[in-house]
Amino acid sequence: MTVVLDGLRRLEYRGYDSAGVAVITGNGLAVERKAGRLANLEAELAGRDGFVGTAGMGHTRWATHGAPIDRNSHPHRDVTGKVAVVHNGIIENFHALRLELEAEGVEFTSDTDTETAAHLIARSYAGDLPAAVREVCRRLEGAFTLVVTHADQPDMVVAARRSSPLVVGIGEGEMFLASDVSAFIEHTREAVELGQDQVVAITRDGYDVTGFAGEPAPAKHFRVNWDLSAAEKGGHDYFMLKEIEEQPEALANTLRGHFVDGRIVLDEQRMADQDLREVDKVFVVACGTAYHSGLVAKYAIEHWTRLPVEVELASEFRYRDPVLDRDTLVVAISQSGETADTLEAVRHARGQKARVLAICNTNGAQIPRESDAVLYTHAGPEVGVAATKTFLAQIAANYMVGLALAQARGTKYNDEVAREFRELERMPSAVSQVLRTVGRVRALGRQLADSKAVLFLGRHVGYPVALEGALKLKELAYMHAEGFAAGELKHGPIALIEPDLPVVVVMPSPKGRAVLHAKLVSNISEIQARGARTIVIAEEGDETVLPFADELIEVPQVPTLLQPLVSTVPLQVLAAEIACARGYDVDKPRNLAKSVTVE
Ligand code: F6R
Repeated sequence: MTVVLDGLRRLEYRGYDSAGVAVITGNGLAVERKAGRLANLEAELAGRDGFVGTAGMGHTRWATHGAPIDRNSHPHRDVTGKVAVVHNGIIENFHALRLELEAEGVEFTSDTDTETAAHLIARSYAGDLPAAVREVCRRLEGAFTLVVTHADQPDMVVAARRSSPLVVGIGEGEMFLASDVSAFIEHTREAVELGQDQVVAITRDGYDVTGFAGEPAPAKHFRVNWDLSAAEKGGHDYFMLKEIEEQPEALANTLRGHFVDGRIVLDEQRMADQDLREVDKVFVVACGTAYHSGLVAKYAIEHWTRLPVEVELASEFRYRDPVLDRDTLVVAISQSGETADTLEAVRHARGQKARVLAICNTNGAQIPRESDAVLYTHAGPEVGVAATKTFLAQIAANYMVGLALAQARGTKYNDEVAREFRELERMPSAVSQVLRTVGRVRALGRQLADSKAVLFLGRHVGYPVALEGALKLKELAYMHAEGFAAGELKHGPIALIEPDLPVVVVMPSPKGRAVLHAKLVSNISEIQARGARTIVIAEEGDETVLPFADELIEVPQVPTLLQPLVSTVPLQVLAAEIACARGYDVDKPRNLAKSVTVE
């Protein structure tokens, strides 16, 4: 049970509405489930006997069907109590299946879709658990990962996956199953990634993978390139704070090895220069913070390649019949590689024959698997629910795609591409410089903890930064926050300005386009004149903003297109500090989960 609880602790970021464990003991299945954080379950189990065995499973839940209460927590059992099931995803035809089972007299004890799977597996079981799981999976619709035990097969755990993550960990005399390798990283770094519609049965000494029809299926072995320390807080109070600190390394690792002999090399990209030359339009699809990284990238990709770039929320993309064809490049950005909306956007794009390139932080996740090509961000595991280091890494990856397109299409000379890449390579040290000076931002965060709302303004690449700053504050501090394009202010939002309202302004460089800088200075003076408390993020040495900045946060001088990499960092710190000052857990904001595997 300790192994299961330790694994759950590392996966709690994926859902924390409730938690449960099941252990196959000498006396059948021992199960305990509790609503709320994992700590509630641990308190319930403390000092309890009877949870000893060599096979077990656990689950942390992010509720979809049924409120987060004890009886809806996983594992779910069949009526005999011999079968236990944990499940991620949604069984879309569960209602019909439930009616069928109820007609046979099965009494349900929860409101979940998962419980149907437990009853169906029990009904199909005739001594062969993998066969029973396969039979049931063939009837299930939707996206799911199921993990199943049966008290009569105490040495085996069976799992199945369709469009939802599942990896196998290969230990010595022990095997693991998890949604994410971090659950078993302290035991092994050897792992196997499962394909779509596959069932795996693990025993102490091995694993066997089959398709849903029972046919032997290939399984891809990989070695995890980070270790336990990457999945631990390393002396920080929160993972998020550690991950903010890790941003220089995340950037450096993402860029490493991608510029060889004077050319951008995207080796995992699997797209020939000829393919890139044929591209006549780029769509970027993503959600949340990943979407903001796409908004940043649009400026650079259009500037470098002269290709039109549309950035679209993945959840909207396929509902509006976008114009896609063979010459469209769709860049799908996802830290987890599991986000259901982005995955569906990828499927839609490929259905329309567009070429899809995934930018992803998770090896072998579903989105890269279903894409034509992948460029991995090497930010390491991100456990804090709010994306930080992966945002910066996504911007860097997007920029490399832009440069690769420019290089292949000849819209930039090789020496220009080299110069842009060298600038990117300077960014880890620029971000380190920002991190050394965020003490003032922390102090400011504590002062702002009682504010009712905060507005964020930016222009050009500063606009997505403003959106990202507002998102971080909303999700972590539960505070009303909005990001605006500064030029839009006078078209409505300026009515929100009232005395002492904090307004964060992301200034462009005074050395960049002078018009842009001057316009934003006018915007700050307009809001200051109306009593707002102005917090200005500006390039060091930018003296023109001084008269208008109630608070000044300086960032190093970097090329205009790279400014988001430095100006986002203080906003992450600000949001985290405000949230901490308000007493919130920044790693696990309410109602959220790290991987959103439902649409
Ligand atoms: C916000 C945040 C989310 C994610 C979004 C997409 O801090 O983390 O907005 O960016 O849910 O997730 P991925 O990148 O995994 O597709």
